[in-house]
Amino acid sequence: MSYSRNKGLEINSLTVEYQEGHLALEQMDLCLPEHSIYTMIGPSGCGKSTLLRAIAGLVQSYTGEIKFNDQSLRKQGTALIGLVPQNYGLLPWKTVHSNIRMAMRISDSGRHTKGQQEQQITSWLTAMGIADLAQRYPLSLSGGQQQRVAIARAFAILPEIMLLDEPFSALDAITREEIQTIFLENWISHPTTTLFVTHDVEEAILLGEKIVVMPSNKEEPPVIIDNPVFQISHEDKRDSDEFFAQTKRIRKVMQEKW
Ligand SMILES: Nc1ncnc2c1ncn2[C@@H]1O[C@H](COP(=O)(O)OP(=O)(O)O)[C@@H](O)[C@H]1O
Ligand SMILES: [Mg+2]
Repeated sequence: MSYSRNKGLEINSLTVEYQEGHLALEQMDLCLPEHSIYTMIGPSGCGKSTLLRAIAGLVQSYTGEIKFNDQSLRKQGTALIGLVPQNYGLLPWKTVHSNIRMAMRISDSGRHTKGQQEQQITSWLTAMGIADLAQRYPLSLSGGQQQRVAIARAFAILPEIMLLDEPFSALDAITREEIQTIFLENWISHPTTTLFVTHDVEEAILLGEKIVVMPSNKEEPPVIIDNPVFQISHEDKRDSDEFFAQTKRIRKVMQEKW
């Protein structure tokens, strides 16, 4: 399947000031073409979470513009956005199934019947390998399982923009690799415009078509790095020469900019 690439997500001169005199983001510019996936790394406090929250509409007092296919995201409902926040964002008093069901009900606005939605929930839980957990409550699950629920929920609402904030950071190395693979397979079959924040250089290289490196100096623009590793089949990426070269390249940029 080939997708047309509209302008996608455009961030123009975005400035966020939570407290007077403390800029969380300063005049930031960034563009993600529609149906692309960019990973972002940056030092703690450089404004990555703030950026995702501003795009998602959770931070509204900003200056500058955030647009999706030329429409301002300031207006609620311009684009359907799936956010996987740092702490999973699941409701502890709802089962896994109800957590997803609720997100779908809010986002679907009558496009699908209840039966179709149920089918979708089952298919996403199955894709994430957690179909047997549907009736469990989030706090009875391991971190890795909660993470899968949060990702299933983000995909299930079929968002136009997906934002992920260090979603795999709580996972052990093996589970992390498993979920990276599942995530990427699902993204390839539903390539929604995606910004994926991670603190892991390898993860940034494994999952991003381009890699955005945020500088510690907020006055400097982000560095956008092409990532040829993305074209390599996933199971071969880690062992490729390109992966090795890219790791070196990114570490060098980090040394200069952090
Ligand atoms: N709710 C908030 N109130 C005040 N300051 C905040 C708030 N959230 C973040 N900040 C500040 O904004 C800056 C950027 O934070 P954040 O976006 O969380 O960075 P990152 O995710 O890159 O670590 C930091 O200096 C942080 O202390
Ligand atoms: Mg953060």
